[in-house]
Formats: sequence, structure tokens, C-alpha cells
Amino acid sequence: MAFWTLGIADVAAQSAIVEGREPPSIHTHGLPRLEDRAPGAAIVEVDLVAATAHLELLPGRSSDVFAYNGSVPGPLLEVTEGDSLIIHVRNDLPEATTIHWHGLHIPFVADGSPFHPIEPGGSFTYAFRIPTGSAGTYWYHPHPDHRAAYQVGMGLFGAIIVRDPNDPLPPLAEHVLVLSDNRFRDDGSIDFPEAGTRVAEMDELNGREGDVIFVGSEILPTLSIRAGEVQRWRIVNASGARIYRLALDGHSLLHVGSDGGLFEHPVEVDEILLANGERVELLVRGTGEPGSRAVLKALPYDRYMARGRPDSWNEPREILTLRYTDDPPVEPIDIPGVLRRIDALPIADADTSRTILLQQGRINGKTMDMGRVDEQASLGATEIWEVENLVGMDHPFHLHGFQFQVLDRNGIPEPQPMWKDTVNLPAFGRARFIVRFDDFAGKWMFHCHILDHEDQGMMSILQVE
Ligand code: C2O
Ligand code: CU
Ligand code: CU
Repeated sequence: MAFWTLGIADVAAQSAIVEGREPPSIHTHGLPRLEDRAPGAAIVEVDLVAATAHLELLPGRSSDVFAYNGSVPGPLLEVTEGDSLIIHVRNDLPEATTIHWHGLHIPFVADGSPFHPIEPGGSFTYAFRIPTGSAGTYWYHPHPDHRAAYQVGMGLFGAIIVRDPNDPLPPLAEHVLVLSDNRFRDDGSIDFPEAGTRVAEMDELNGREGDVIFVGSEILPTLSIRAGEVQRWRIVNASGARIYRLALDGHSLLHVGSDGGLFEHPVEVDEILLANGERVELLVRGTGEPGSRAVLKALPYDRYMARGRPDSWNEPREILTLRYTDDPPVEPIDIPGVLRRIDALPIADADTSRTILLQQGRINGKTMDMGRVDEQASLGATEIWEVENLVGMDHPFHLHGFQFQVLDRNGIPEPQPMWKDTVNLPAFGRARFIVRFDDFAGKWMFHCHILDHEDQGMMSILQVE
């Protein structure tokens, strides 16, 4: 706890100093903001068009992309708990698409799963309410049958911030860091391998990684901080397959939140593992000297089978530079030791336990079939799911529609209850989580979030009714 003053501060007193929903400054790293048609009311009405575009993703080179409202990543959607959202989507792509609101607890018809494709030239209006208590960082991306990896790789993904009108954290400068990676040919075109080639085979096995890592639309950006200042970083792993093991040279990080929002207690860590689809919220305290620099790196992380490891897997990658201004240090501020209450879902309430076995491209021995229901649950039920990875590489497991609480990983209890929608299963690892299907009947996907694996059919259907 060297750098953090974690007194048990009064949460209500802290939140009283937050005026309005905007932080003092928000840095989106190239994400435009999605404009509300009629700002003010608790209704947020926005337009999204998915279409082809030419963009300069790499300096000086033009790429043919798929873009939301002409930008890659798509625009940032910022809303407040309780808001009603109306999102008019038009599909100007040459193929069917959907938009899935990853992590949000919303009705089935609005889930943007493969059950509700929007055909080329078609439109769809997603309408849902942002639940109370769901403040956090989420994201949106296409989820059409068999085409998720391709469409996300072509540029379709964007970040969502849900704000709490009584945010327990003091107002801090914010950075929204949407991490993605891509692969390009010399002419700037996005490089997808030809079917049947060795590269295609490796992409099928590992999921397609690219050697260019983007933060929003930027490559290796520089963030500035003043000595002593505390910043709030929201990080989204929007990569189809790359898992990031993040560390900031010479700094500890205060891990304050995960997929479904803030923790009860902040946790000081030296590094963070961020699997595909996951989000984290971190506080970074400027403990460096004025004028100094530190680099946020992705450290080597072996998520691969021995026969599929890319040559460069163990080279650290630079993600961004943190540059200290020359200004003298500011006074340290206190971060509350309790951010909000998160009650553990009671294990005694669990009606059912299920075992979910992950194999390469399969779940419980089956590949995805839209006409089949794999698991059936009752509306309102509380269940414990045990997910076990039977193979020698990581598979990040994601459930649509419902946030869950991980109970243990490889038998080791989670340190505190927290809300998650994605949990990484390392090679031969297992995890148990508890979930309550408290609303919203429907057919909900659960799948590996390595998008190539999802497209290969490593996805199943849970029917809640
Ligand atoms: Cu982020 Cu089913 O997806
Ligand atoms: Cu999802
Ligand atoms: Cu997988």
C-alpha cells in the first residue's frame, strides 16, 4: 500500500463533490463522441451507421475498413445509469451484421446476437434501459453468425461508459483506452489470410493477432500526468485474440473495477491481465518525478499451445508512454477504501449447478447450432456454473445478458465479490461463478471470446424462460 492512502473514507461525502456526470477532463484517444439527438432528458437517442470507409489507420497509408459513423474505433457512447437508450442502426455494409452491447443487462431482442441479424441495407432500432448499479465500462461490437472476427478486425468496435450520478471516486482526469491490434499488408490494406494457408491455420488455432497495437485510433500515444496527480484509466480489450498483461514501469496500479463496474475495495497490483472482451478500471498515481517518463507495456503472456506459439510471443510490447509535466507535484488526494457495497450472491440460493467443458472449437463437445438449445434455466433462478478448460491454451469465457460473480479459480476463492461478464480460463484451468437470471427471458449466447473460436462454433445457447 506504499503509494495509496486508503482510509475508510465516507463514500457519501466523496460523492457529494462530484458535480454532474463529466470528469474534469476525458481523453478518448481518437474516439469521437456519439451525439445525443436531444440532450438533456433521460433519453439518449443516437444514430449508428455501419459502412465501408477508407481511413488512415497507419500514418500515410489508406485502409479499406468497416466503420461505425466513419470512424475506427466507433464513437464513444456515454450514458448514465437509468437512461433509456434508443439506438438507430443502419447497415450499409455488404453483409449482415448486428451490434452486441457487451456486458449490458438488457432484453434479448436488443442483445444483437446472431438471432437478430440486420441484413445489408437494413435498419434496426435497439432500445433498452441502462440498469441502476451498472455504472462501468462496456463495449459494443458486431455478433453475426461466423463473421465476428472478420467484422471486428475490419474496424467495428466501440466503447461505452455508464456513469453513476453518485460516483464514489473523486473527479479525476480520465483516459479511455480501447486496445485493439491489427495486421496490415504493405499497401495499407487489412491483412486476412487466404483460406488453407499456414497463416490461416495458425489464426484458426490462436485467433488472429496483429503486430500493430492501437490505443483508440492512436499508436503508442503519449499521455501526460502531473507529479502527484491521480488519473482514472478505463481499459477495454477489443482485440479479437490478443491478451494483454499490462504493467506500468515503476508504478503500482490501483485496480478499482472490472467488467461490471467498481469493486467494493480497491486493490493495489503490479500488473493486470486483460483477456478478450474484459475491461478494467485503474487509478494511476503520478509517483514519478516531474519531467520523467514511464511506459505501459504488454508483458509476455503465454496463452498459446506449445505448437502454436508465435515467434515473438515473449517480446514485451509498448502500449503507451506516460510523460510527467515539469510542474511541481500536486498534493496527494485520498481514494476511498470502500467504493460501493457488493453483496455476494448467496450460494445457498443456487438451484442448479452446471458444468461447462471447453475444448478447442467446442463447448460440452458440441459446436454452435442456432437451432439447438444447450442449457435451459428458469427466470429468477440462481445457478453455479463450473467452467473447465480441457485444452492447453487460454479460452476467455463470456456469458451474454447477465453479470456473474466468480467464486473461485482453480479452487482458489476470489478475494472479493465483483461483477464480471467474461472470465479467462487459462490452459487446463477451471473457474466457478454464481449468476442470477433475474430478468429477461431469451436465448443467450455463451462462448469463447477469442473471436475466431467463437466463429468456429465455440459457442452455445442458454435459454432462460
Ligand atoms: Cu463480446 Cu458474445 O460477445
Ligand atoms: Cu457479450
Ligand atoms: Cu477459445
